[in-house]
Amino acid sequence: MHNRIRLGVNIDHVATVRQARGVSYPSVVHAAHMAELAGADLITVHLREDRRHIQDTDVRALRESLQVPLNLEMALTDEMLDIVLKVKPDWACLVPEKREELTTEGGLDIAAQQQRVSEVCASLQQVGIKVSLFVDPQAEQIQASAATGARAVELHTGTYANSVKQAQQHELQRLAEASRLAAELGLQVHAGHGLTRHNVLPVAQLEGIEELNIGHALIADAIFMGLAESVAGMRRLLDTAR
Ligand code: PXP
Repeated sequence: MHNRIRLGVNIDHVATVRQARGVSYPSVVHAAHMAELAGADLITVHLREDRRHIQDTDVRALRESLQVPLNLEMALTDEMLDIVLKVKPDWACLVPEKREELTTEGGLDIAAQQQRVSEVCASLQQVGIKVSLFVDPQAEQIQASAATGARAVELHTGTYANSVKQAQQHELQRLAEASRLAAELGLQVHAGHGLTRHNVLPVAQLEGIEELNIGHALIADAIFMGLAESVAGMRRLLDTAR
C-alpha cells in the first residue's frame, strides 16, 4: 500500500524479562520472528551501556537471523561505535543515554555536538549503515540534524505520550511542525517513544511520518493477548491511519 507506515517493533523488554532472572528465556530471537510474522517491518533494539536488557550476543544473533531490517539504537560512545561497525545493522539510531534513567529521557542534542554527530554519521554511512537521529521536535534540532548528513530523524514522542488534553494537542502540533520541516529538508521522518494503541493514531496521521518505533506498550499488551496479536493489532490500527 502506498504511504503505508512502517512499524518498528522494539523487543528490549523481552530481554528485560529474561534478565530479571538471569536465565536464557524468553528468547529475543523467537520474539523477533513472531513479530516479523505478525507484521513488523523492522526490529529495533537498544544495546545500552549497562546491558540492562539487550546483550551483545542478542544483537549478533538478530543480525544473523532477521528477515526484516535491524535498527540498533546506540549512544554516541566509542564502544558502541566499534560494536555497530562490526555488527552492521541496517539502521543505527543515535540516542542519548544516562545510566540512572529508566528509559531514554529526551532527544539527542544535535545542535550542541553537530561536528561529532556528523563524523559518526559519515563513518556509519560509509559502510552502508543508515543513520537516524533521535531528537526532540524542535526546529533547531531538525535543522542541525539535516546538516549532519543523517538519513532520518526519529521524533521523540515521549512528551506527547505523557501529556493530556490541551497540552497533548500542543505537543502534537510541535510534532506536526517538526515532521513537516524534516521532510522539507530531505530527511526521512520516524517517530517513537511512549506510543500505545490508545495514543498512536494522531501521530500516525501526521504528514511526513514514515515509521513508528514501539516497544513497551506492545510487550505489555503481549502479556495479555500474545505477541503476535499485539503486533498484528497495532499493524491493523496503523493501516486505518491513512
Ligand atoms: N525510539 C527510541 C529512540 C527509543 O529509545 C525507544 C525506547 O527504547 C523507543 C523508540 C520505544 O519506546 P517505547 O518502549 O516507549 O515504545
